[in-house]
Amino acid sequence: MEFRRLVIASKNQHKIVEMLDVLASIGLDVELVDDVEWPDVEETESTLERNALLKAREVRAATGFAVVADDTGLEVEALDGAPGVFSARFAGSGATYEGNVDKLLRVMNGVDNRAARFRTVMVLIDDHGEELVVEGIMEGSITTERRGSNGFGYDPVFEVGDRTFAEMETREKNEISHRAKALRALADALQR
Ligand code: IMP
Repeated sequence: MEFRRLVIASKNQHKIVEMLDVLASIGLDVELVDDVEWPDVEETESTLERNALLKAREVRAATGFAVVADDTGLEVEALDGAPGVFSARFAGSGATYEGNVDKLLRVMNGVDNRAARFRTVMVLIDDHGEELVVEGIMEGSITTERRGSNGFGYDPVFEVGDRTFAEMETREKNEISHRAKALRALADALQR
């Protein structure tokens, strides 16, 4: 893989900072391209992998730069992996974090098997168009009610050990999260 300047296909400043942090920590000197625009990419595919690839390819086509893109889903065992790729709109199009969590608690009401995982798929396309796909998984379980006020999305009902993600400090969550693991997998692959 070879790239010098990199577009991070996200409008989420927090994700961008997190990504640059990990890349810098392995001594990868990347220059961020932050003065280009790209059209919103609708995540219409049926898997996290395809969505991440779609986003990476479209942003690369629009900007001409090397790019990294990701897609994340919550996969609940008792729901055969749902909401998965539909995590952002579990409660319907235009769903809020609140609505999605309400629906999850409702459909999990009375279900014994609470096992779940967050899975992030990350795609890097380099200057030559070469594609690298990695993933990061965080295993946990779904609580029966919300706990904690940090984080976002499903954090208040996703428990690791005896705390939910929303009960952890941001820094702590970001060190162990699915996204952090995907980033480290990306960094490992780049170092090899
Ligand atoms: P995205 O791929 O990062 O946009 O994530 C898709 C959806 O998954 C979000 O709308 C959230 O509902 C959920 N999600 C992703 N990452 C997290 C996380 O770290 N904590 C809680 N929910 C998350």
